[in-house]
Amino acid sequence: MAAPQRLGLLYEGKAKQIYATTDDDLVWMHFKDDATAFNGVKKASIRDKGEVNAAISAHLLRRVEDAGIPTHLVEVVGPRDQLCHRLEIIPVEVVVRNIAAGSICRRLGLEEGTALSRPLIEFFYKSDELNDPLINDDHALMFGWAEAWELAYLRHAALRVNATLCEFWDGLDVTLVDFKLEFGRALGKGQTGRILLADEITPDGSRLWEKNTLRKLDKDVFRRDLGDLGDTYRDLFARIFGEAFHADSEA
Ligand code: TMP
Ligand code: ASP
Repeated sequence: MAAPQRLGLLYEGKAKQIYATTDDDLVWMHFKDDATAFNGVKKASIRDKGEVNAAISAHLLRRVEDAGIPTHLVEVVGPRDQLCHRLEIIPVEVVVRNIAAGSICRRLGLEEGTALSRPLIEFFYKSDELNDPLINDDHALMFGWAEAWELAYLRHAALRVNATLCEFWDGLDVTLVDFKLEFGRALGKGQTGRILLADEITPDGSRLWEKNTLRKLDKDVFRRDLGDLGDTYRDLFARIFGEAFHADSEA
């Protein structure tokens, strides 16, 4: 069967665009070079970011799939383009933390780098207007954002993804500090109701520290002006794929 063709733009996010396709059950995800932080307050275009993130996300989503967690990724169709199952996004962002960093340090007065005795799962309500507030299961249930079985699955899947990613990054001498996942309910024929891991798994939505040096290899480099984000991401690409990054596409 011929690959579906890209149609009109359905949605534009901070780092990606989603297009309709000639197949009603599939969408076309395009990774942009745009970087934002603090809910869009800080912005820049980082050469190659879209392409590096697309490659990393496809690689990691496939590993997660191999570990038994179904994802939205159907096919890589270009250096920064992926065909994905069409979903209704569950508006509950799932953060998994292995080490304290970022917002949990501010909220609970922890020092960055404090080890957590087991992976901690936090839920945030996905709302740019409200700045993605922290919520608990009760909020999600009462406001109808997710059902109880869905929240149970989100926790189970997030821990499985964490175990898979920790092992992956560990093998590259990188510590997985924390990361954010999004899930959706599949809308396609024969898929209805299935929950799929959605969005992306990239250094934009993860904290990654080089083991011995504790050097940051993720978007905190941009958030906190710690260096050149493009260089950091290209280095990460080389570490993962064992070859230097060469751009294949324009943004
Ligand atoms: P936080 O410490 O700011 O709560 O972030 C936890 C993790 O989630 C971190 O790896 C970055 C990621 N994240 C996103 O992917 N998108 C967001 O909007 C935020 C706030 C965090
Ligand atoms: N993803 C959010 C933004 O783009 C927040 C962040 O990553 O710091 O602004």
